[in-house]
Amino acid sequence: MKIGLDLGSSTLRIADEKQGVVLREACVIGDGLAGGPTFVVGSAAEKMIGRTPEHMQAVCPMGRGVVSAPRATGEFLKELLPQVVGWRWKWRPKIVAAVPARITEPQKQSLIKALKFAGASEVSLMAKPVAAALGATPETGTKRSTMVVDIGAETTEVAALAPGIVVCESIPVGGRQFDEALLCHLRNVHGLEVSRETAESLKKELGSAHPVRDEKKVKVFGREMESSLPLTVDVNGKEIRLAVEHPLQQIVALVKQTLDKTPPGIASDILTHGLMLTGNGALLKGLDLYLADQCGLKVQVAANPGDCAVLGLLQTKHNFNEAPKEEK
Ligand SMILES: Nc1ncnc2c1ncn2[C@@H]1O[C@H](COP(=O)(O)OP(=O)(O)OP(=O)(O)O)[C@@H](O)[C@H]1O
Ligand SMILES: [Mg+2]
Repeated sequence: MKIGLDLGSSTLRIADEKQGVVLREACVIGDGLAGGPTFVVGSAAEKMIGRTPEHMQAVCPMGRGVVSAPRATGEFLKELLPQVVGWRWKWRPKIVAAVPARITEPQKQSLIKALKFAGASEVSLMAKPVAAALGATPETGTKRSTMVVDIGAETTEVAALAPGIVVCESIPVGGRQFDEALLCHLRNVHGLEVSRETAESLKKELGSAHPVRDEKKVKVFGREMESSLPLTVDVNGKEIRLAVEHPLQQIVALVKQTLDKTPPGIASDILTHGLMLTGNGALLKGLDLYLADQCGLKVQVAANPGDCAVLGLLQTKHNFNEAPKEEK
């Protein structure tokens, strides 16, 4: 059996050919310290961040789209893969995994090693922008020139495809950098300290990249920075939009830079057909309109943008020949 796996900075997604996406789980592991046993993975571990008991630590195995904690990544996958593959596990699946287009050889080997440790029989890797394009538009897939902008939790990758990757640029900016920008704004303007989860919820509820109708206002609860006492402030949509302007501008610059580097024939196709937004960072309200204004292109947000890459992985044939190098 073959399964697709997208191990992102915030979410692990697994899909199979029959059922589509079968698992979406937070990429966090509650790790027993001093090499002790692994206790919890996924959303249960995510809730432990900042509140772990003494003998444990909450580890995010991935950072900026690549393996940052190899042991934790292996343990994390070993806990979750059998849950998905169930009784078929004894046959050990072939895994097609999405990776950043500009991944280095050691980063590749680190992921392959973790997947084999978790039980994969064979591993094939596919560049995430190609997978995302296939997942977003299966009917046209990568048959004609297209541009994909994948905005994840910690990375944005922009690729011109024709149909393989012609140009690909990436930056370590994603949804978490929007959350950071909001945290800074609340501190600097309102003297309010809130958790990362609060900032992320605020972004999802009230955040936008382009003015929206019925601009809302919400009460945000936190701690006053000076006194540490509880504090509630009113926050409106416009100030949130201004607060996330910097990371948004970094994404605009990346799109323009990639277009600049794209050969004219392919660039003109992209100008005609526009670009496709994938990754859940694309769910920020009005992001399509903002990028269309700033870059002068048609912009479309894919359906279920976060799932595009994992679904696209299963749409082509793969060579399962990526063997990890022997350790010396
Ligand atoms: N409704 C929403 N509005 C704005 N942002 C959202 C929304 N829903 C999810 N996000 C953001 O999407 C980001 C996660 O996207 P995604 O799941 O594609 O990342 P990932 O694949 O784990 O990371 P990466 O591709 O960078 O390795 C988070 O920062 C999350 O806050
Ligand atoms: Mg991703």
